[in-house]
Amino acid sequence: MAQRRLLVTAALPYSNGRLHVGHIAGAYLPADIYVRYLRQRGDDVRFICGSDDNGVAITITAAKEKTTPQDVCGRYRARQEADFDGLGIRFDIYGGTHSPECVELHNRISQGFFLETHKKGLFTKKTTKQLYDAQAGKFLPDRYVQGTCPFCKHGGAYGDQCEDCGRSMDPLALIEPRSTITGSTPEVRETTHWYLRLGEFEARLKVWLESKRESSGDEPAWREATLNFALGQIKASLPERAMTRDLEWGVPVPLPDDPDAAGKVLYVWFDAPIGYVSFTARYCERADGDWKAYERWWKDPACRIIHFIGEDNTVFHALTWPAMLMAEGSFQLPSAVVVNAFLNERGPDGAMLKLSKSRMGDDSALWIEQFLKGYDPDPLRYYLTSIAPENQRGAFEMREFLARNNDELVANLGNLFNRTLTFAKKYFDNKVPEAGTLADVDHELLAALPAAFERIGHQIEHFHFKAALADLMQVARSGNQYFDAKQPWAQRKTDLAGCGTTIHVCLQMIRALTTLMAPFLPFSATKALALLNVPADGALAWDPASARLTAGHPLGEPEVLVKKLDIPE
Ligand code: MF3
Ligand code: ZN
Repeated sequence: MAQRRLLVTAALPYSNGRLHVGHIAGAYLPADIYVRYLRQRGDDVRFICGSDDNGVAITITAAKEKTTPQDVCGRYRARQEADFDGLGIRFDIYGGTHSPECVELHNRISQGFFLETHKKGLFTKKTTKQLYDAQAGKFLPDRYVQGTCPFCKHGGAYGDQCEDCGRSMDPLALIEPRSTITGSTPEVRETTHWYLRLGEFEARLKVWLESKRESSGDEPAWREATLNFALGQIKASLPERAMTRDLEWGVPVPLPDDPDAAGKVLYVWFDAPIGYVSFTARYCERADGDWKAYERWWKDPACRIIHFIGEDNTVFHALTWPAMLMAEGSFQLPSAVVVNAFLNERGPDGAMLKLSKSRMGDDSALWIEQFLKGYDPDPLRYYLTSIAPENQRGAFEMREFLARNNDELVANLGNLFNRTLTFAKKYFDNKVPEAGTLADVDHELLAALPAAFERIGHQIEHFHFKAALADLMQVARSGNQYFDAKQPWAQRKTDLAGCGTTIHVCLQMIRALTTLMAPFLPFSATKALALLNVPADGALAWDPASARLTAGHPLGEPEVLVKKLDIPE
């Protein structure tokens, strides 16, 4: 297998709140599974994330918490980082667009990006009427204004986007707008901004997006909902969008000779995706001593760029960001944008509830921080992948989470490990017995393993994580069925060599499952290696030949692989 080079990003979370299971299911877990798989396969991968620190979301929280934006970002960034770590979601760098370590480089690269686009004449500088809060003495960009969405009539649409229907917004189009600073009805005043003429990129975006309908080479097709949404927006035509804001917090507009630029910053959705670039650069500085080495990832067509996001980010990653990249001109376009839908919560009475800060209590177990106090990460990774909202919205239900752990992870995967290892310990001196003479059923099971590597790898390559996990569990199920059918406990008394064959085959199977489960259940895979007494180094290579045990290999001490969880009455 030829080594490939890939840069994988997961949406930068706003650093003004904690992470819940919906965030994880949306972007971070699928990205982590994908990256782990690529690494097991031997590809050269960088996995980039960090916090989205600029913009109005952060300044609003700072005002609410009576503190500074720096303080808000620093605090939440650390907590989010701990959440990711606790779940085994391991980025090469977790930057921050305003973090002490990244802000200087981030501003420089973002300003360079703006200036290059400016130099090419792709911005229109325009004075227009904007909403202004006279009580606060401030313009009201983005989330500073809320009202009813003119398209879907959702009541809580923001000035830059309706999170319900996903459309980007012109704040002046909001019905009954209110200032979120003072609650007052805003007035209209004039201000000057730089607008990116997205319309000029419609034709190129359309051709590019259309080309993603089918897979090409080993590059998978994009999800249909993503393409339909983005192409639908183009059909309705893309308006010009202001890429600057009247705000103190953010990346200053780099036009020192223009008095109209004074006191203005870049729009957060302009600088945030550039965070992917600047964090890559920061990582290159750390790893290679040269920040410019980021170009090897961003400007070399031999590298593939893949963005993982939640559905509310589609417009920015499938349209605005590619248009920005086309405008700047020296970067390559993402090869895929992988979008998951929202995850809701299903209450005990079956009611569908939105996962949101405003609704969920502080101690809800659906906050990752809370969750990790009570549970191991792998059962959550398992459940979230099995209900992954890949093609439609999904729902998290606490009881179902517990039941799926017990009925599937414990009763199927864990059980196969457990019964095989305890049997080997008891009757085969805790060593891998000889394969002996293989009958057809034994052959079949062993031959199915390389095929499983092939199939599950293919599903992961094509971003079908849910199907890949289901397949993996089916492999484990076939192992249990084999164990049941062979009845080694009876074989032992009549045909010890045949019993050895059965346990040999089962051990090969759990050895293969250890590698196959590693992208999804990394903690369990590490534990499984210890149970099998296989040194971790290189043990998880995505290669059926290296996932094999030799006869006579001494096993580790048997222990339960997956714990049963209590289900409250
Ligand atoms: N902060 C945004 C959100 O949570 C995502 C930003 S992704 C990036 O919805 F591309 F802009 F970085
Ligand atoms: Zn809407």
